[in-house]
Amino acid sequence: MSESKAGAATFEVDGTSLTFDRIPAVEGNDAVDISALLKSTGLVTLDTGFVNTASTQSSITYIDGDEGILRYRGYPIEQLAEASTFLEVAYLLIYGELPDAQRLTDFTAAIDRHRELDEGVKQLLATAPAGAHPMAVLQAAISALAAFHLDTLDPRDAEQRGQASIILLAKVPAIVAAVARHAAGEPVLDPDPSSDYVVDFLRMTFGQDDVDPDVVKAMDMLLILHADHEQNCSTSTVRMVGSAHASIYASVSAGVGALSGPLHGGANEAVLEMLADIQSSGGDASDFMTKVKNKEDGVRLMGFGHRVYKNYDPRAAIVKKAAHDVLDKLGKQDEMLDIAMGLEEIALQDEYFISRKLYPNVDFYTGLIYKAMGFPTTMFTPLFSLGRLPGWIAQFAEMITDPATKIGRPRQVYTGATERDYVAVAER
Ligand code: CMC
Repeated sequence: MSESKAGAATFEVDGTSLTFDRIPAVEGNDAVDISALLKSTGLVTLDTGFVNTASTQSSITYIDGDEGILRYRGYPIEQLAEASTFLEVAYLLIYGELPDAQRLTDFTAAIDRHRELDEGVKQLLATAPAGAHPMAVLQAAISALAAFHLDTLDPRDAEQRGQASIILLAKVPAIVAAVARHAAGEPVLDPDPSSDYVVDFLRMTFGQDDVDPDVVKAMDMLLILHADHEQNCSTSTVRMVGSAHASIYASVSAGVGALSGPLHGGANEAVLEMLADIQSSGGDASDFMTKVKNKEDGVRLMGFGHRVYKNYDPRAAIVKKAAHDVLDKLGKQDEMLDIAMGLEEIALQDEYFISRKLYPNVDFYTGLIYKAMGFPTTMFTPLFSLGRLPGWIAQFAEMITDPATKIGRPRQVYTGATERDYVAVAER
């Protein structure tokens, strides 16, 4: 394909030249609108893993992967992580602008009114067998919210969708905390809607009334860092499910399923397991790195690499600094932080990682902070889910209100058998 002039691109198929519109981006990559290709040529495009395909136009989050830039609604992640709060960022992502004081108060109050969990949801959470992964239970509980809020299921009705969004933001902290308590064999604690959102989440999780302000600040900041990341795997899943006009609960619960994978949100858990393995085998990272570079048994340096970032993930830079600060403040020095820094140091000087532009991503250092706060490893990805919730909600709303949205339905390049006749089992 060659670009013929600004505003268009030409593509030659079987001697015929076709022109496609160029869709300008405000920043970042422009697109070529190839939606008419099939009709005019009979060809589909093949782009496994969507490495080159924009699934939508979006005005929520901007990433420049080469420069290591991340902005929510134009605001640099560094400024939001430093100065904002999770609920303010949630408002920003969902409504597009930072709230004034009154709007933030009203938004917070609307959430507070729904923080209690439905009895049925509590019962459902209690039925999870011991050893169940918290992500499986979280996904089920979010999906089940649809059964308890029947008047909020139509995603095309702005009021119902808005109400469902508030319900999700309000109840997911209590669900995540209940999942943690249940997994630990501890009694589940009810929310206290008069208490701050993040403080109460930590109280419900750890069962202690006096929550350390440094832990609250770090938790709030980590939630902000995870709040959106444009068209990643789980967000694309949320949009895809929602494009069929499924409820936002069904869509977000599918997003939780996608996030549980170790190549996505599950990487934060996998990083800690990897660090623990290295620690238990003596702490020498070089053997492990040799395995990674030889691609032995498909082993990867978890928490490294990213589809979009070909530079240091700006979130990882913030988390790395926070890991030092939080561990210092809590007086919880951890040999695993030294192992992680050792791995990073090797990787940043090694040709394998340099040539592939593999840098630490957000998941590389987060687990060390969660561990220092007292979260068990299996709770790391549920924490990511709680953080990503505003992004999923904002992206769902953008998708469902975009007149250009169609049901997500990719094509394929068929490689199977051509027509053949059925043979009865006795004759095979
Ligand atoms: N360790 C070792 N090699 C790697 C890694 C890694 N972590 N990541 C990529 N590579 C290699 C890969 O083997 C390939 O090598 P080659 O060119 O020789 O075939 C090359 O780098 C390109 O990798 P890719 O798999 O084609 O890249 P991708 O864009 O499809 O995958 C990724 C991105 C994040 C899935 C991948 O980097 C990875 O598996 N990382 C480890 C898991 C992880 O940390 N995931 C969290 C991502 S960030 C937060 C989130 O989304 O939740």
